[in-house]
Amino acid sequence: MTAPDILTTEALSVTFGGVRALAGVSLAVREREILSIIGPNGAGKTTLFNAVTGTCPPTSGRVRLHGRDITAKTPDEVARLGVARSFQNLKPFAEMTLLENVLIGREIHMTSGMAAAILRLPLFREDEARQKRRARELLAFVGLEQRRDHLARNLTYGERKMLEIARALALEPSVLLLDEPVAGMNPTETGFVMELVKNIREQGITVVIIEHDMKMVMGISDRIYVLDHGELIAEGLPHEVRANRAVIEAYLGGGHAPAH
Ligand SMILES: Nc1ncnc2c1ncn2[C@@H]1O[C@H](COP(=O)(O)OP(=O)(O)OP(=O)(O)O)[C@@H](O)[C@H]1O
Ligand SMILES: [Mg+2]
Repeated sequence: MTAPDILTTEALSVTFGGVRALAGVSLAVREREILSIIGPNGAGKTTLFNAVTGTCPPTSGRVRLHGRDITAKTPDEVARLGVARSFQNLKPFAEMTLLENVLIGREIHMTSGMAAAILRLPLFREDEARQKRRARELLAFVGLEQRRDHLARNLTYGERKMLEIARALALEPSVLLLDEPVAGMNPTETGFVMELVKNIREQGITVVIIEHDMKMVMGISDRIYVLDHGELIAEGLPHEVRANRAVIEAYLGGGHAPAH
C-alpha cells in the first residue's frame, strides 16, 4: 500500500528576472519515504527547497503540508509546522559551541516562556536541562558528542555538515530536507551519512535529499524525481530513473552522469 502524501507542490514556479528557475513543478512526497531530487547544476533543485520553505516565495503555484496550504508562510512558520532543512552553503554560528548551535534549534520547544527565562524560575531551569539533554542526544546521533563544547568554527567540513543535520533535527521535524548532504565528503563519511539518513527515517521522519552523489542516491532512495531546466523530466524507482532516456540526455549536457 502506498503511504499518504505529506508534502506536495502544485505547479510551483519561481522566476528570477526573466529566468524561470522552477517551471510548474508538481510533486508529492509520501510519508516516511526517502525521496531524492536530482538533476544537473542549475536545474532548480535548491530553488525548489527555497520555494517550499518560504525562503524564496514562489511566483505561482502551491505548497501543501498534510493537505494544508503553506505557500505564503515564512521560513520560521514552515519550520514550526515541521519542515526542517539543511543548507547547501553551511551556516553554523561559528563563535558558538556545537551544543549552543543545536540549542538554538530547540528554542521553539521551550515551554516555559520568556518571563520564566528572565527570572530563571525552576520551571525554566527544568526546561533548559531537558533541552540540553536532547541537544546532547542529537549531537551523539550525528557522531559529534565528543566535540559538543568546541566552537563551530573549529570543525572540519564534514563535521560542520553533520552539525547542520543535528540543528535541523533539533526542530523535531516531520519532514527533513537535505541539500547535498555528502558534497565534498569522502566515501567513509558518505557511508556514515547514508546510515544516518536511514536511522532518521526509522524514527518516522520523511527525508527529501538533493544530491549529486549517485552512489548515495541510488543506494538510499525509495523514489527519485529528476529536474532539468526547472522542469520535472522523470520520476520513479532508482533503477527506472537510471535507465530513463530523458534523464541520461539531461546529464550528458550537464556533467554529473546518473550511472556513477
Ligand atoms: N537568488 C537568485 N537570483 C537569481 N537567479 C537565481 C537565484 N537562485 C538561483 N538562481 C538561478 O536559478 C537556476 C536554478 O538554480 P538552483 O540553485 O536552484 O540550481 P540547483 O539545481 O540547486 O543547482 P546545483 O546543483 O548547482 O546546486 C539557476 O539558473 C540559477 O542561476
Ligand atoms: Mg543547489
